[in-house]
Amino acid sequence: MVRSIKSLTGSDLHRLGRFLTVRKTYSFIQHQRQQLNEAQWKRHLKIRDASLFEAIDINDFVSQIRQNAVCFGLQLPEALITEIDHYARTTSCTEPGFQDSFLINEVQDGRLRGERPVLRALVDHTEKCEAIALLEQDPVLIDIVRSYLGYYPTRITRHLTWSIVSNLPEHGKQFYPPTAFHYDIAGFNFMTTYFYITDVDAESGAHVMIPGSHVQKPWWMVFSSGRQSDKAVYGYYGKDKELVIEGKRGFGFMQDPSCIHKVLPPIKANRLLLQLRYS
Ligand SMILES: [Fe+2]
Repeated sequence: MVRSIKSLTGSDLHRLGRFLTVRKTYSFIQHQRQQLNEAQWKRHLKIRDASLFEAIDINDFVSQIRQNAVCFGLQLPEALITEIDHYARTTSCTEPGFQDSFLINEVQDGRLRGERPVLRALVDHTEKCEAIALLEQDPVLIDIVRSYLGYYPTRITRHLTWSIVSNLPEHGKQFYPPTAFHYDIAGFNFMTTYFYITDVDAESGAHVMIPGSHVQKPWWMVFSSGRQSDKAVYGYYGKDKELVIEGKRGFGFMQDPSCIHKVLPPIKANRLLLQLRYS
């Protein structure tokens, strides 16, 4: 069915964010718009005076992202890791596509209460976790986002997600889409901060990416669906370009998720990941 321009929704239009030119143009327009009243946009974000992160070179972080789509060097204070971890273990979770809620300790060997398989669990009500609010309002993180995107983000969303260890046959790409290579289209322009709340390695849900692929994608990858096969990605970039991001609890990084990335399905331990998404 052909849809008229009038029936296009905001999220349809956001799909244009797959194009680098659209992302850059949107940044330019937002930058001009916010210059008229910068203080208002800062107030809206409730940015705190002091940061949780010390000795961060913002220019260096931003140039790392521009070049590689990712920057490293963030570490959460121990007290925050403990608080977020406790929150995730004592708050109900839901799995996308299902109605029931559960606590993470009700999922054992990949099954909820011994019944259906569960691949991921989104922790509910992240707005009630004060440690996450502190991160959302952190001046250093906001400065990096503002420098990279060119404008203060108009929307920040929080996602605290368990990726669940399993050897079940259902633990495949078709049931857990982020385990397939893809690039995100999360608005006209966007970026993400990630913190591992549990220790993460290649057997416990490591994030995998192709550095530089936020600006370097072949036309057929830009025009096809965001999801890509391993064969297509390794065939174009080379398997040696793949970066497997491992880190202990509290390890953080920032990324332009329009790069090619995926999560390795955990087979040894659950992964708990906090994401702050800016658009
Ligand atoms: Fe993604």
